[in-house]
Amino acid sequence: MSQPVILVPTMGALHDGHRKLIREGNAIKGNKGTLIVSIYLNPIQFNDPKDLDKYPRTFDTDYKVCEEEGADLIFAPSDAEMYLNSSSVKVSENKLARELCGSKRPGHFDGVCTVVTKLFNLIKPKIAIFGKKDYQQLSIIRQLVTDLNYSIEIIAIETQREQSGLAMSSRNEQLNEIEKEKSSVIYEALEAMAKSGESKSKNLIRLGKSIIDKESQIIEIDYLEVVDRSNMAKLEIIDRPALVAIAVFIGKTRLIDNIEINFE
Ligand code: PAJ
Repeated sequence: MSQPVILVPTMGALHDGHRKLIREGNAIKGNKGTLIVSIYLNPIQFNDPKDLDKYPRTFDTDYKVCEEEGADLIFAPSDAEMYLNSSSVKVSENKLARELCGSKRPGHFDGVCTVVTKLFNLIKPKIAIFGKKDYQQLSIIRQLVTDLNYSIEIIAIETQREQSGLAMSSRNEQLNEIEKEKSSVIYEALEAMAKSGESKSKNLIRLGKSIIDKESQIIEIDYLEVVDRSNMAKLEIIDRPALVAIAVFIGKTRLIDNIEINFE
């Protein structure tokens, strides 16, 4: 492939998870490619305006991270540049986006699909890199690429975690030390579920809940589901590649995580 343009879309507040994506982009671009990181806190994917207000904005350090990891260009448009007052077109995915976070955050994935479509059209990448941390988003983007006939290769990167197991997230900055420490129970539950060998989702979910509920004073489960990896639909029996997906509230902060369960 000659001179590929590689895109890593982000909303900024870059952490080691983002670094992993940018580093991968740098590794595949070779001598001739161009690695572009977009940093755009996309307002239309926030269904809760308070969540948008609280979202960390750290452009100066983000700039350094991009530089350190070998990005050639940062695309950081303003809201006025991204969305004209007169704009009235949205991009929706209507199958995968109904499940999990889609049912809990109305309009969220329309916002994601719309902004990612705009980024693809503006930047015209050959390759775009996304994290498995947002597994449902990744599946929806793959569907979008297929359905809208983009010639873009989507590369998926494993979730980067703190030593405690907590998935790195820009929202972790909103947790205090105790909340951060207790949040390690999320991955503890996911790992226990994945290793249990249990084939009935109902029992798996019971196991996961019993682990998370050790910290029920701090952590409230928004959803904990076992889904079919190919379509994000609920699974009763794990007889195909599955995903355990979880969303929790810690105070007002919402965190998501997931783990793959491979069907033998
Ligand atoms: P953001 O949350 O900034 O994430 C940007 C990319 O980093 C996503 O592909 C996400 O899955 C990945 N990522 C986040 N945390 C990660 C971790 N701990 N390990 C590995 N990858 C991780 O996702 C978005 O932004 C937005 O929805 C966006 C796609 C940019 C559209 O606005």
